[in-house]
Amino acid sequence: MNKKLTISTIKKRKGQEPLVMITAYDALFARLLEPSADMILVGDSLNMSFAGKSDTVSATLEQMIYHTNAVCRGAQNSFVITDMPFGTYTSKELALQNATQVFQQTQADCVKIEGGAEKASIVAHLTNNGIAVCGHIGLLPQSVRSEGGYKVKGKTKEEESQLIKDAKAIENAGAFCMVIEGVKADVAKKVAASVGIPVIGIGAGKDVDGQVLVFSDMLGLFEAFTPKFVKKYLDGASLVKEALQEYATEVQTKTFPTQEHTY
Ligand code: KIV
Repeated sequence: MNKKLTISTIKKRKGQEPLVMITAYDALFARLLEPSADMILVGDSLNMSFAGKSDTVSATLEQMIYHTNAVCRGAQNSFVITDMPFGTYTSKELALQNATQVFQQTQADCVKIEGGAEKASIVAHLTNNGIAVCGHIGLLPQSVRSEGGYKVKGKTKEEESQLIKDAKAIENAGAFCMVIEGVKADVAKKVAASVGIPVIGIGAGKDVDGQVLVFSDMLGLFEAFTPKFVKKYLDGASLVKEALQEYATEVQTKTFPTQEHTY
């Protein structure tokens, strides 16, 4: 069994062996992916892939706590990150109250917060009060409605310098690592080089300190849409549907159960 990572061992991986982060929403998949992941993210993407909503905006703290507990039970030897949902960290006080609830009611090792320099004071308030924070900069899924879609960042010099400012502000506020999403690869490389903490990419090229993917995307289980940055390591949806069809046929033809599955 791999040794559970800590904040300090994660920070030491900066510029060294790339970090592997994968999302999980339940104990079943957390158990399956634990041997391959350095960190498990209970992402608010569960609101789409698990709960069937069209974006992450309506995810609730209660949902995140429920799924984090399931993941922690399934992967007791993993470093677990819980996403703070939209609207739960709009002020320092609210963020601390809600993140404290996450810490008290789950075994999560840290929370993740979307936003750059504008969220630095909130990150600082949490870290100063014993809550470890993973930042999330670049394309921010919780801003999909205000931005009018999922927009790749780092396309202009202004965006590039803003991303570097964001990364530095989040680092200076005390975050121990950050996710960078949907950013041009050459810019993500510069952002990663501009800070001393690990920068984990998703749709941000290979020149960062690790990668994160949503498990249901990478296993080909989520069929609604596939972003360009997703590699499907399995055609999960087809395999599941084939197996289910085989079961249905065997039930209909009474070829299941056989003697082997009968008391
Ligand atoms: O919610 C999530 O799964 C995430 C990843 C896309 C990084 O934040």
